Amino acid sequence: MQKITLHTEHLQDFVPHEALNGIMPEMVAAKRTLTGKSGRGNDFLGWIDLPKELPKEIVDDIKGEAERARGRYRLLVVIGIGGSYLGARAVIEALQSEFAPLTRGDRPYVVYAGHTLSEDYYCQLMQLLEKEDYAVAVISKSGTTTEPAVAFRMVKAHLEKKYGKEEAKSRIYAITDARKGALHDIALQEGYHTYVIPDNVGGRFSVLTPVGLLPIAMAGYDIDKLLEGAREMRELCLGSDDPEKNPALLYAAVRNVLYRQGRKVEILENFVPNLKYVSEWWKQLYGESEGKEGKGILPHSLSFTTDLHSMGQYVQDGERLMFETVLSVAQPQGHASIPADEQNLDGLNYLLGKSLTDINHCAELGTIRAHVAGNVPVLRIELPRVDEHILGQLIYFFEFACGVSGYALGVNPFDQPGVEAYKKNMFQLLGKPGVK
Ligand code: PA5
Repeated sequence: MQKITLHTEHLQDFVPHEALNGIMPEMVAAKRTLTGKSGRGNDFLGWIDLPKELPKEIVDDIKGEAERARGRYRLLVVIGIGGSYLGARAVIEALQSEFAPLTRGDRPYVVYAGHTLSEDYYCQLMQLLEKEDYAVAVISKSGTTTEPAVAFRMVKAHLEKKYGKEEAKSRIYAITDARKGALHDIALQEGYHTYVIPDNVGGRFSVLTPVGLLPIAMAGYDIDKLLEGAREMRELCLGSDDPEKNPALLYAAVRNVLYRQGRKVEILENFVPNLKYVSEWWKQLYGESEGKEGKGILPHSLSFTTDLHSMGQYVQDGERLMFETVLSVAQPQGHASIPADEQNLDGLNYLLGKSLTDINHCAELGTIRAHVAGNVPVLRIELPRVDEHILGQLIYFFEFACGVSGYALGVNPFDQPGVEAYKKNMFQLLGKPGVK
């Protein structure tokens, strides 16, 4: 099988073997806490076995609905926030053309709502929905989160006005808790096509449930391959305590060694813009899982070479707070090369015969060498290519490493108590009944 590989050759000056060997017993203990389900937050470990245990009927049902949507809807509005939408967006944006809004075929193009309260955003969305034929997937585990609830109320009203109540019902998918929450109650009353988010899977670990799988399948991508990739990575992650064989254990170990050396910021970097939302998903996963009790690596992201012309200056030369993790893609999905030009006024003929990927790889290696020389440790995660199978591996790899890393840090990686503070203030300001 082709698989993602973690490369540590640029860490030699920063993470000596003794440091890695020294921390490894802690990582193995954290892994045992995770897989033995004996740590804090152990009610939320259902994601560990999801790739293997997700019922086939659910996957088949999702694939059936995706086929039904094909050629029927121009848009799918995915309503959700945080873990309830970023996983789907990460996979869809990694796989679709950067120019998908202009080039789309017979699959619904996915637009997002419920992740903002911007009035301008919803004005623009409503104008679009007025013109386009659409369906809606509304996702909320609690079923009570304000942002998606507000968006759903608006979109539902529009859908019912546009198509009538009965037709609107057939265009709404609700993905929520099995028993409770306002969304659950609405879905039950209206008779929407509903998928359940398992009790033991938290938002940011839910991409391999219908939360991620329905939008991804609707957009035309192969969820069987995504799950297969995740299953393969699960075998590696569960199967070995040897960091040479278990990349998640190695990643968790390296980031904890660096953190203890004072590297408080991790920058996830890509050299292909399609991976931008993988970084957004990763930031949410690690930020919400580790950033608590006054601890945690601050996750940040950059897209290169674009950001080499902005934040590149800071990374090269600014305060030495950070280490970098580069998502390095070996093979492109298509081909483009530099055309010959006899005059060579732009001086680019020295690039003839090289593909854009050759050039991009030189930019990547040149950047890594420069940053290492500038005293920044660099890890590299090599993806053989960007497809469903490899993304499935990457998702599981990051989830498992997050669980291990969070336990090694001494926090509960599966709660998010800090998210409540802004909500309480907002509800007070808005005069929500029952909030003092
Ligand atoms: O990862 C998490 O748990 C959060 O980011 C949630 O996904 C997010 O707050 C949305 O919650 P809900 O699905 O309950 O609307």
